[in-house]
Amino acid sequence: MREDLKIRLERFREQNAVDEAVRGRIVRPAVEFIGDEILEQAVSALLQGENLLLCGGKATGKNILADNLAWLFGRPVYNVSFHVNTDSSTLIGTDTFVGGEVRLRRGPVAQTALYGGFCILDEINMAKNDAVAVMHSALDYRRLIDVPGYECIPLHPAARFIATMNYGYAGTRELNEALASRFSVIRMPTLRPEQLRRLLKMDVPQAAEEHIERCVGLFLDLNEKAVNGEVSTRSVDLRGMISALRLMTDGMAPGDAVAVSVTNKCFDEYEYQLVQDVVMTRFA
Ligand SMILES: Nc1ncnc2c1ncn2[C@@H]1O[C@H](COP(=O)(O)OP(=O)(O)OP(=O)(O)O)[C@@H](O)[C@H]1O
Ligand SMILES: [Mg+2]
Repeated sequence: MREDLKIRLERFREQNAVDEAVRGRIVRPAVEFIGDEILEQAVSALLQGENLLLCGGKATGKNILADNLAWLFGRPVYNVSFHVNTDSSTLIGTDTFVGGEVRLRRGPVAQTALYGGFCILDEINMAKNDAVAVMHSALDYRRLIDVPGYECIPLHPAARFIATMNYGYAGTRELNEALASRFSVIRMPTLRPEQLRRLLKMDVPQAAEEHIERCVGLFLDLNEKAVNGEVSTRSVDLRGMISALRLMTDGMAPGDAVAVSVTNKCFDEYEYQLVQDVVMTRFA
């Protein structure tokens, strides 16, 4: 990462102490995010006070990027997984009785506001419009949560929202314009071969070089076929490729490892055959 960004990150961490009560939410991510250009864009935007929307297909590293960002900024993490039933109380909280008094039991968004958290709004496009409408004032210049029936909660200066959005396959929805306009948007790129090699090596350190090469080759072949529209993106799955490599490193026959982790996920018979043909060129 660029030196100036490192210095500004350090200053950010110094200026924004974290409450003892939520230190446990500052977690080192399982793996390092690969992709310096994207990381730098994200850090710059967040330093400017922007909220981020990470867009990309499955297993393009959206969550791993979000986790790495929270770690770099030294902030506690709050996760919300959106689904069609997510409503404002899931986000902000519910009223409870404590000693005869009504108190707000804070949801992840309210806690983010209070403690200066990094709130990960996962698969935000799956939410219904009225659920995310309560987020509008938190996401724009007002920086507060103001919902009738709740106390008004201003956002801590270090609080940020990082939303993820998956597109390109059945079941995904469009994000409404009002919401999209409140984020800086990052499109997750396809990794270059040398980045894929580094990633696989990092995830499965014991893997044989030869297996890594074959997995990288297969991933790129399938990606190219998907870009050309010959197959869907179903088989282009880095997560599957990592598990295949893990299984073959653990002793499973490479062909079987790729079958259970990649090929068998193509439930359409025609596509299954096409993918199988590509696999055979690498794992005969
Ligand atoms: N750029 C990257 N750097 C490091 N790891 C990556 C990267 N891209 C993908 N991965 C790896 O791929 C797997 C999937 O990553 P992640 O869960 O972040 O993807 P995602 O985009 O959130 O996927 P989904 O849309 O399916 O939720 C993880 O094991 C992660 O380590
Ligand atoms: Mg994800």
